[in-house]
Amino acid sequence: MTGRSLLGPGEEDDDPAPSGPVRPDPVRPDPAGLTDLPESDPPDHDPPASPDPPGVPVTMRAAYVDRLGPAEDIRVGELVVPAPAPDEVLVRVEAVAVNPVDTYIRSGRYRTPLPGFPFVVGRDLVGVVEACGVAADAFVPGQRVWTNGLGYAGRQGAAAEYAVVPVDRLYPLPDGLDPVRSVAVFHPAVTAYLGLFRHVGGVGPGDTVVVGGAAGNVGSSVSQLAAFAGARVIALARTEDATWCRKHGAAAVVDYRVEDLRERLAEEAPGGATVWFDTSGRIDLELAVEVLADRGAVVLVAGRPEPAALPIPLFYLKSLRLLGFVITTAPAAELADAARVVGAHLAEGRLDVRIGEVLPLDQAARAHQLVEHRVRGRVILVPRT
Ligand SMILES: NC(=O)c1ccc[n+]([C@@H]2O[C@H](COP(=O)([O-])OP(=O)(O)OC[C@H]3O[C@@H](n4cnc5c(N)ncnc54)[C@H](OP(=O)(O)O)[C@@H]3O)[C@@H](O)[C@H]2O)c1
Repeated sequence: MTGRSLLGPGEEDDDPAPSGPVRPDPVRPDPAGLTDLPESDPPDHDPPASPDPPGVPVTMRAAYVDRLGPAEDIRVGELVVPAPAPDEVLVRVEAVAVNPVDTYIRSGRYRTPLPGFPFVVGRDLVGVVEACGVAADAFVPGQRVWTNGLGYAGRQGAAAEYAVVPVDRLYPLPDGLDPVRSVAVFHPAVTAYLGLFRHVGGVGPGDTVVVGGAAGNVGSSVSQLAAFAGARVIALARTEDATWCRKHGAAAVVDYRVEDLRERLAEEAPGGATVWFDTSGRIDLELAVEVLADRGAVVLVAGRPEPAALPIPLFYLKSLRLLGFVITTAPAAELADAARVVGAHLAEGRLDVRIGEVLPLDQAARAHQLVEHRVRGRVILVPRT
């Protein structure tokens, strides 16, 4: 998380105009984002850029905010179904995941350009192609697809009955996969893949990966992907989560609360670890530097705002690397590569994540609250139940 504003010139800042009452009328997106129509100008008098595809209604249910703020501000109401631009695809949404970052964007804690208000929340969806823009011929109506590219960097979000997705951020979903399980896996697994294979440069047989927060969503994905690649995984997790962790890639589970954590890790990784991948935000960098073997890497995807102590001499004497990243700034080509690998694992019946709650779209505000209160497992919204 950075305190630096990522807003572009003229974008909404952290002090947006106060919202008015809920409008009963639907609104239609314009090319620059979403602009409310005057009440005297119903949406059917304002045709989209391309003709409405047959069978697609004019309006849809969507979970949106009129300003950045608390989860309770999320409204569920009617918006106009967006029309795909030439390089976009209109998707009928089957399931949407709620990620921690979705709550940071909704609250204004993480700054990213917004398309305007109403802003539909959400990043990840699984759905079915309804219509393709004229330059989106890589997809066909009826095809199952997924993305985690909505709801940031100026794009509208996923938590609606329909969404438009740019073709470079839309991926075919392998046949026969359950939408809820697939959408649940996507964000944590892509994060894990980017960390292990893009930023670290890959792990395999002979490598030892310590996973902080191994019983969590991202941690479970890190453990599984590292284990599939042949690495030995040491999970840091509560003893009561040992069975989950062992089932999901861990060769050893060490309770992060034990007093002799240093000794336990030395026993489990006598030659030192290759990677310490922290997803808990609570890493002890001194311990990690001690546990890592020469040329090892620390991967950070979460953390508290306070500075952390890094033992610099031992860090450079061991030629270690400290790697942080955020999926939100990953280039489209990296995300597409990750989606291909994650999809292949899913098609093989591999990659699992805990499902916490599956809720109807109407409960989008509650879904955000659950994620903010760190409910265990993934929270999924289903637009049509
Ligand atoms: N940078 C990125 O691109 C990116 C992408 C995705 C997610 N994230 C971030 O990654 C973090 C994890 O997300 P998630 O969905 O995996 O959350 P999660 O399911 O809640 O997992 C977090 C894990 O951290 C563990 N933990 C909490 N306190 C700990 C401590 N003191 N010591 C050791 N472990 C501790 C928890 O263990 P217990 O269950 O035992 O409490 C839990 O298993 C979030 O902050 C999220 O925002 C970042």
